[in-house]
Amino acid sequence: MKPRILVAREVFPEVIERLSRHFEVDANQADVVLGVEGLKARLADKTGVMTAVSDPVTAEVIAAAPGLKAVCNFAVGYNNIDLAACTRAGILATNTPGVLDDTTADLAWALLMATARHIQTSEHWLRAGHWKGFRMTDWLGSDVHHATLGILGMGRIGQAVARRALGFDMNVIYHNRSRLPADKEAACRATWVDKATLLREADFLVLLLPYSAESHHIIGAAELAQMKPTAHLINVARGGIVDDAALVSALRQRRLAGAALDVFEGEPKFDPAFLELDNVTLTPHIGSSSRATRMAMAMTAADNLIAALSGQRPPNLINADAWR
Ligand code: GLV
Repeated sequence: MKPRILVAREVFPEVIERLSRHFEVDANQADVVLGVEGLKARLADKTGVMTAVSDPVTAEVIAAAPGLKAVCNFAVGYNNIDLAACTRAGILATNTPGVLDDTTADLAWALLMATARHIQTSEHWLRAGHWKGFRMTDWLGSDVHHATLGILGMGRIGQAVARRALGFDMNVIYHNRSRLPADKEAACRATWVDKATLLREADFLVLLLPYSAESHHIIGAAELAQMKPTAHLINVARGGIVDDAALVSALRQRRLAGAALDVFEGEPKFDPAFLELDNVTLTPHIGSSSRATRMAMAMTAADNLIAALSGQRPPNLINADAWR
């Protein structure tokens, strides 16, 4: 008998087809967000699960799934998974690094350009019929070219964002716990600085760190106060890295020129005050959302699940202790 697995959110039919060759698949193609209770109910008889960032794989969920051997996340970030609880239960956990770097870096740039040049707010204004003709002072934005790009979190996506800045003749600075090797710094012409310098000097600050207890509210009121009033903040990483209430207040008081956010604290809920501001651009967690990349992510998660449930070390194992 084939092992039984759950695919917790809707995925492309090609992925279900591939998984069905190896497993008996319970596919949530209706895409109902299962939550803790839904996952507990659907995982009671499963050996593996493919999850998305919206699926909370908590200790409670794991306790309700005695046969579970693999949790394969359809994302590079995995703060939706209680990794320690997985490891204690001997469950292999995996993510999908690498395949979404360029697509996510593209979105970071789309948001950076949008906030710099008021793309979204000026379009809304035009659509609402307010445009009466060319005016010298309409929608004055910030220049991107020759500005200073600051990147907090310089992993693969951060480096892809930095490489794109070469075409805009930007000065690129970054802060990361560990400094990049010289050849990688040279490839993206980026200079390591301490966090205070990054905050003080960036005209555009892009956040690309994973969410964890250490990165919770790493950008709060104190950090926002250190930024230039002409600066823009771009978050394509995770909600919770920024203190959204502090950001609303800085934007409202024009202590920051603008922000562009793809992720929010407690998403899909978000602070409704953002909707009242004309200096923030909002997108619904679409960083990796091109068809090709979402397909590559789903297939990578499928590869991990197939390996994990056939006794092989999955290529993107994130809790090596569970393997040992
Ligand atoms: C998306 O947010 C991801 O972590 O892949």
